[in-house]
Amino acid sequence: MRTYWDFHSAGKLLFGSGVLKQLPVELKRNGYTRPLIITDRNIVQAGLLERLKLALGDSAKHLRVFDEGEAEPSLKAAQLAREAANETAPDVIIGLGGGSNLDLAKITALLHCHRGQPADYFGFDQVPGSVTPLICIPTTAGTGSEVSHAAVLTDTESGLKVSTLSAHLRPSLALVDPALTETCPARVTAESGMDALTHAIEAYTCRLPLEMKEDDDVMMPYPGKNPVSDAFAEKAIRLVARHLVRAVKHPSDTMAREGMALAATLAGLAFSNGAVAVVHALEYPMGVALHCSHGQGNGLLLPYVMRFNKPARLEEFASIADFLGCDIEGVSREEAAELGIRAVEKLKETVGIPRGIRDIGGKDTQLEGFADKSHQISRLMNINPIQPSKDDLLSILKAAF
Ligand SMILES: NC(=O)c1ccc[n+]([C@@H]2O[C@H](COP(=O)([O-])OP(=O)(O)OC[C@H]3O[C@@H](n4cnc5c(N)ncnc54)[C@H](O)[C@@H]3O)[C@@H](O)[C@H]2O)c1
Ligand SMILES: [Zn+2]
Repeated sequence: MRTYWDFHSAGKLLFGSGVLKQLPVELKRNGYTRPLIITDRNIVQAGLLERLKLALGDSAKHLRVFDEGEAEPSLKAAQLAREAANETAPDVIIGLGGGSNLDLAKITALLHCHRGQPADYFGFDQVPGSVTPLICIPTTAGTGSEVSHAAVLTDTESGLKVSTLSAHLRPSLALVDPALTETCPARVTAESGMDALTHAIEAYTCRLPLEMKEDDDVMMPYPGKNPVSDAFAEKAIRLVARHLVRAVKHPSDTMAREGMALAATLAGLAFSNGAVAVVHALEYPMGVALHCSHGQGNGLLLPYVMRFNKPARLEEFASIADFLGCDIEGVSREEAAELGIRAVEKLKETVGIPRGIRDIGGKDTQLEGFADKSHQISRLMNINPIQPSKDDLLSILKAAF
């Protein structure tokens, strides 16, 4: 049984519209002279690399750019990015983009420093020490990768998402400039925003460190909720409720973009110190098989998993209803929890997340395989408030079909 908790973040967090301008100051302060940017062509096309170069001024001439990042990056993309790092010998790696590019930057910093193959480091705590200094600049408001200890790749052969989880993967600097999210297509805003909500809700409702068994603790990348992760999760849920729809429908609304950027970073701090759980476990195989984005898959599954977890976390789900703005005055905790789940269903529909698995091209014959693969991700099963059997997972997927 664990009787303590701890809390970790990026080495430094800079937050605010226009804060990109601080990048040259940070590079100079740390003596970095050979940055390698990891990004993708959409980000270049959206003019965000140009904005970064403008911010750097003269020193932009030392920049090296790898722009072959991709959504939900594959092992192949990791291979290409590490080759770019080998050629350019950077002293700092800068991820610019959504969670996909940030994760690719993390893996590049890892492989550039420690060599080997991505698979050598899969799982928890396999990274032997600090990696090449890493700066993460998110352009979506969703994953929280800029502050998290996680990097996710897609193994197209096994049909699984593969995670590398290590304290050494928390960036030395997270530079969060909400203005960079204004070019996000509405769909990316909606899906990444639902990912942030999923992080916050899973972090708020997962198990407590105290509820973990001794031998669970040995391999726990997700230690369970604590008062700090709860505070950040609560704030993130309130911010998503207030700002997500507006950010989707009014892309240049500065306040909505700032609210969502903060929500995503806080939710990243919450889940990477607390946990994500069964929503993420079910999304991993489903996302690879159906080629849906991480945020779309999570957003689709979230209310179904909430309903499954509700009996074990009535108090927390009732609070979540309150954070989401539901009127829970005078209703039972059970009813309040249900109101919260309905509010998530409504939000999901309003921002255009499909209702069920069949709507994104899934076949009922695939569900058993998804349940099987999800059930093997023990770190996400153990930390869920109810330990699901394979049949439980299948029932959730059938409800979500
Ligand atoms: N490391 C973590 O802690 C963590 C947490 C959750 C998810 N993830 C991973 O993050 C990935 C998803 O990241 P995401 O939801 O941020 O989306 P993404 O990075 O996959 O981006 C989606 C698309 O939007 C484009 N895009 C991003 N920002 C843009 C902008 N400002 N303007 C125009 N286009 C833009 C990208 O080029 C891409 O084509 C998945 O691979 C998921 O597994 C990681
Ligand atoms: Zn996620």
